[in-house]
Amino acid sequence: MRSFRWLVLMSAIALVTSCRSQQQQAAAPGGPGPVGTIRDVMHMVIESQAQVIFDSVAVTVTQAGTQEKQPETEEEWDAVLHSALTLAEAANLLMVPGRSVARPEEMNTSADPTELTPAQIQEKIKANPDLWVRHAKDLQDVALRAYKAAADKDVQELWNVGEPIDQACESCHLEFWYPGDKRPAPPQ
Ligand code: HEC
Repeated sequence: MRSFRWLVLMSAIALVTSCRSQQQQAAAPGGPGPVGTIRDVMHMVIESQAQVIFDSVAVTVTQAGTQEKQPETEEEWDAVLHSALTLAEAANLLMVPGRSVARPEEMNTSADPTELTPAQIQEKIKANPDLWVRHAKDLQDVALRAYKAAADKDVQELWNVGEPIDQACESCHLEFWYPGDKRPAPPQ
């Protein structure tokens, strides 16, 4: 059962990969097309799914002692499996051509002056489409590692993969969202 699911997943990915070169030109009529913005996908899909993986394994040290948390029941393992698959597929959503970074009325808004506005991010993606796809693929690869860890019920690997997932998020954000943070802090 497990290897069958794996196989289906791998062939779905192969299909996506083989279609990608055509998709990058323009979405075919009736073919895949974006619904939400990149901001929506981050906020409503990617963040919550990554959080399930991050929270699945934890070690808390208090005066009362050390508490370890890990998926125990079949349902808990399933929840991690589902989130990892959703996260891996969400990386494909980032690669769907024509997805706007934000809604028109949000294009010139950012929460922080160190962030690029969605309009600036849009320009950056347009100028560096391959780099954008590479970052999305990096996220997909680490999400697949989490998927495999959950399928194998491998607690240590699930713990290990937390850091690379975080890095996949952060390195894309540093490139496209707040590139100013890449500069080293000036000496005090
Ligand atoms: C391929 C690039 C890329 C990857 C990978 C990526 N992000 Fe993002 N993310 C962005 C961009 C660009 C924005 C800024 C969009 C905007 O202006 O709100 C963003 C914004 C966000 C936001 C703010 C959304 C909002 O409501 O304003 C959150 C939260 C977020 N990302 C979480 C994550 C997490 C968690 C991961 C990894 C699991 C991740 N992102 C991976 C590109 C990426």
